[in-house]
Amino acid sequence: MCGIVAYIGPKEAYPIILKGLKRLEYRGYDSSGVALLNDGLKVYKKKGRVADLEESLIGKDLHAHAGIGHTRWATHGEPSDRNAHPHSSASGRLAMIHNGIIENYTQLKNELIKKGYTFTSDTDTEVLLNFIEDIQTNNNCELEEAIRIALKRVVGAYVIVLLDRDHPDTIIAARKGSPLVIGIGKGEHFLASDASPIIEYTKEVVYVNDYELAIIKKDELVLKNLGNEKITPFVQKLDLELAALEKGGYDHFMLKEIFEQPDTIFDCLRGRLDLGNATITMAGVQNNIEQLRNAQRIIMIACGTSWHAGLVAEYVFEELCRIPVEVEYASEFRYRNPVVNKGDVIFAISQSGETADTIVAIEKAKDQGAFIFGVVNVVGSSIARISQAGAYSHAGPEIGVASTKAFTGQLVVLIMIALKIAFEKKTIDESRYVHLLNELHAVPEKVKEILLLDEHIKKLAKKYADAKDALYLGRGYNFPIALEGSLKLKEISYIPAAGYPAGEMKHGPIALVDESLPVIFVATKGTHHEKIISNIQEIKARKGKVIAVISEGDDVIQNLADDVIKMPEADELISPILNVIPLQLLAYYIGIAKGYDVDKPRNLAKSVTVE
Ligand code: AGP
Ligand code: GLU
Repeated sequence: MCGIVAYIGPKEAYPIILKGLKRLEYRGYDSSGVALLNDGLKVYKKKGRVADLEESLIGKDLHAHAGIGHTRWATHGEPSDRNAHPHSSASGRLAMIHNGIIENYTQLKNELIKKGYTFTSDTDTEVLLNFIEDIQTNNNCELEEAIRIALKRVVGAYVIVLLDRDHPDTIIAARKGSPLVIGIGKGEHFLASDASPIIEYTKEVVYVNDYELAIIKKDELVLKNLGNEKITPFVQKLDLELAALEKGGYDHFMLKEIFEQPDTIFDCLRGRLDLGNATITMAGVQNNIEQLRNAQRIIMIACGTSWHAGLVAEYVFEELCRIPVEVEYASEFRYRNPVVNKGDVIFAISQSGETADTIVAIEKAKDQGAFIFGVVNVVGSSIARISQAGAYSHAGPEIGVASTKAFTGQLVVLIMIALKIAFEKKTIDESRYVHLLNELHAVPEKVKEILLLDEHIKKLAKKYADAKDALYLGRGYNFPIALEGSLKLKEISYIPAAGYPAGEMKHGPIALVDESLPVIFVATKGTHHEKIISNIQEIKARKGKVIAVISEGDDVIQNLADDVIKMPEADELISPILNVIPLQLLAYYIGIAKGYDVDKPRNLAKSVTVE
């Protein structure tokens, strides 16, 4: 994710671009920059927020009628001035901004290095830009033709927008897999990642489609496909208001992020899971495979929702890799006198990568000789930098305080790591390995199917919104999902929900059960299905209300429960990724029914950088 804004027309470009970037900071905010075309190309860029860039440009020559701007969400190359966009080509003639990931950038970079190219950044973007310039130089062709040739070799997702110093009246853009909107003004054009920077100037827009190229002058828009055939632009009228636009038309960032999960899980798998060759490519794992496969013990260290991901990972790693796993709350681990041995591997799990307790805990473990592997969402964050290796969850910026898409991204990354280690250790047979790869590959489509239950879950939320408390129960891989579901409800609706292993009910919590208590079971088919049925019968015998997340076709539980949420079939090891989705939606809609600010719940912060 990142924010892209561009302008060409009679107005001053910089103020329009700057305002637009501020509107798009929810899409990425680790660094930003602008390139302005007037009497040559001027490129200004800086680590930090757009406001930091703005302050650094006071007094600079910012006059231009054409320009491009970018607010970054790093995927390749940590947040820094040098990795910020726009990037300049080797000759300095071109400037480019990019939203997306070029998966085969290493191969392209090696080809360019052999030709003598050097690079000023660590990004995939700069590689693509020089690849385009190299093609233009060697083929002595127009820039748009060079872009078409280059994009036929690119694997990955992109919106790219380029300025050419030798053609100050033109902006060229191309799109595949990331969003691009063009605003049609009177003698002027606007480009942006969504319509929020455009809507105050014009409501007439063109949504660029995959594999389309836009050649834009102030009074002319030409759309072409990669075969150089012209396409008639389909002009639409915007009917959304600004506030709704930033949330992609959803009422809240939390709901938007829940619905982004098919895409974010796909992004997490992209470039890593290769079904055809039955391989998982993760450099951080591959380059440290001896350390990981020979681990005497694995310790998952995290807080909150990330700790729940670590708990799922305990079941997955022990099942697949046969390595003993412990799961530690960072806030406890850091103050204990823990026994940490040299052969231990620590997985530091964190969305923000800035959680103070987790940082101190892993530094303590590192000092005692443990190997730290970071599973983080924010590229270049503190935990990413402290870790000796890592894998990003590529969920994009998570604005809602309640973690949703980052959590499922963590689960996907951790399951892929466990599969890679198990494959190396031969603790998994070939058929189960391939089966689980197929199961992972099928997750984005199954999440789309689950999200179609939105209205049904909204009705359930209204039915149970007045509950004074709630219990969440699960077994095995789905016990952590019961905990996560209860945390979501707690933090979004302030209902004091509790999560337990379903088998724990008889050891005390069942005393809570009466006809007013909703009990949410995560009860999809798996090893413990018969036991879960008994647990549900125990609750029903005490007049508790049972809401059960079940597998499609499970008539037994459907006849026992008061309400059910039916899930697509999935291997129980993969089911936590799917089963959390309805619980995210349930918490969201109960919070809405109670009239709370679900994006900013009381007393909470998105990143707990204090102790
Ligand atoms: C989850 O919904 C909460 N926002 C919170 O528990 C969060 O998971 C916890 O603070 C850890 O944050 P991190 O993943 O950024 O380290
Ligand atoms: N992959 C590019 C980078 O890391 C673009 C990231 C983005 O979409 O902001 O710089």
